[in-house]
Parts: sequence; C-alpha cells; structure tokens
Amino acid sequence: MAIIIKTAEQIEGIRKSSRLAAETLKYLEQFVKPGITTLELDTLAEEFVHKHGAKAATKGYKGYKHSTCISPNDVVCHGVPNDYVVKDGDIINIDVTCILDGYYGDTCRMYEVGNVSPYAHKLVEVTKECLHLGMAQCKPGNHLGNIGYVINEHAVKNGYSVVFEFCGHGVGIRFHEDPQVDHVAKKDSGPILRPGMTFTIEPMINAGKARCKVDRKDGWTARTIDGKLSAQFEHTILITETGYEALTDVFHDF
Ligand code: MF3
Ligand code: CO
Ligand code: CO
Repeated sequence: MAIIIKTAEQIEGIRKSSRLAAETLKYLEQFVKPGITTLELDTLAEEFVHKHGAKAATKGYKGYKHSTCISPNDVVCHGVPNDYVVKDGDIINIDVTCILDGYYGDTCRMYEVGNVSPYAHKLVEVTKECLHLGMAQCKPGNHLGNIGYVINEHAVKNGYSVVFEFCGHGVGIRFHEDPQVDHVAKKDSGPILRPGMTFTIEPMINAGKARCKVDRKDGWTARTIDGKLSAQFEHTILITETGYEALTDVFHDF
C-alpha cells in the first residue's frame, strides 16, 4: 500500500471530519466527572456524532461494538466502554474517530478527574509534550521516523517508556492507511514527508514498562503489564507546503 497524497477536495472533507471529532471530545469534557460510567460516556459521544450527521468509525470495525475507546489509568488504549465508574483522581483517555461524508478524522486526549496526583499529572503533561515534539518534525522533506525519534527521546529523558505495540497511521480516506507512524524510531528513518499526506500521531507513554497485554475477556482493552499508568494524546495531521496543520487541533486545549 502506498501513502495517499490527498487532493484539495479530500483535505477539506478530512478537515471537517477532524473538526467534528475534536468537537466531540470538547463536548464530553463536561461529563467526565466522578460517578459516570464509561459506557454512558460512549453513548453521549455516539449521540453527538450522529446529531452532526456522522458515524463513529470504531462501531463495527473488526467486530468492535462501541463509538469510542475509553482508557482509564493503566489502560493503554482500546479500552472498551463498560460499567467502570469514573472516580476522583483518575486519568482517562477518550478516543473518537468520525466518518463524515466518507472522510475520517481521528483524535484522543486525556481528562484529569478532580484531584489527580502530581505523579499522574506529570505523565499527562509529558505525553502532551511528546505529541507536540512529534508534530514539530512534520514538514516536507523530513523523514517520518524523526517523529518517533524525538518522542522516544523525550519520554525516556523523563523516566517513561513508549508503547511500541500500537502506532499512529495514515488516515482520511480510510480508518487506517499507510504509513504506519511508529512512536519509537531511528533518526532519519522511514519515508519522506510530502504535502498532502494525512496521518495521526498518537503516542502512548507508560510510567513503567512499555509492554501491554490485551484483556482476554473483551479482546480489546490493552493494559500495561505492570499495572502502572499510561497516557495518550492524538491529532490528525496534514503535511502542508511549509509544515503541517493539525486538523483536530480546533480548541488549542492540547
Ligand atoms: N481510534 C483508534 C486509533 O487511534 C483506533 C481504535 S480501533 C478500535 O487508531 F477498533 F479499537 F476501536
Ligand atoms: Co488513530
Ligand atoms: Co484514535
């Protein structure tokens, strides 16, 4: 599979879908409070996406049944919404991908619930920094691998580890396209970035070991093997003539 260079028309579609995904995360903010279940949050997200004329890309994707992935605390990613009750001190990731007029936009962010420990807060902040350092590598002519190179460098410098079992990906025409965006990579490795490429950067950073294990009961929820915390932020990025545009960075809140 080759990396798709999007046309102006396609980019406009992906921009709209990305905006709606960002708006969904913004809308959920008021509800991510102690007492709500992750399944209730998923329903709220689904209703919001549908009300705006879109579908959730995860629903029915490879048998996945929900409109979001909701990943609290030691859940790395692909957390299946269920009867888990949100509590004070939790750090929670919500990931939403919209399909609007056939185009995909993908984003996720952390929510800090009430009084979060300084230890957890620092992990969230460093993960956000990792995403932004990765984005700063996004310009035509640069190697894709430099994104993962700077992300890993920053995480390790802070005593954390980078998940390598899940990656970012091309996005826009389909949910997961080429290229695979590794969050650990060698300097100056991988394909050259070109204007019109659209892909996600979505580093998952662990407080302890990098390895994950998938829940045997639901087949999706990926947790850290050591039970320590994990955080993630994700933007859909467009490579432009001069650098990049973060298509899901609508509210500038991460
Ligand atoms: N939105 C996730 C991503 O960032 C993918 C979730 S796929 C699912 O790539 F099937 F787990 F929902
Ligand atoms: Co993604
Ligand atoms: Co996502």
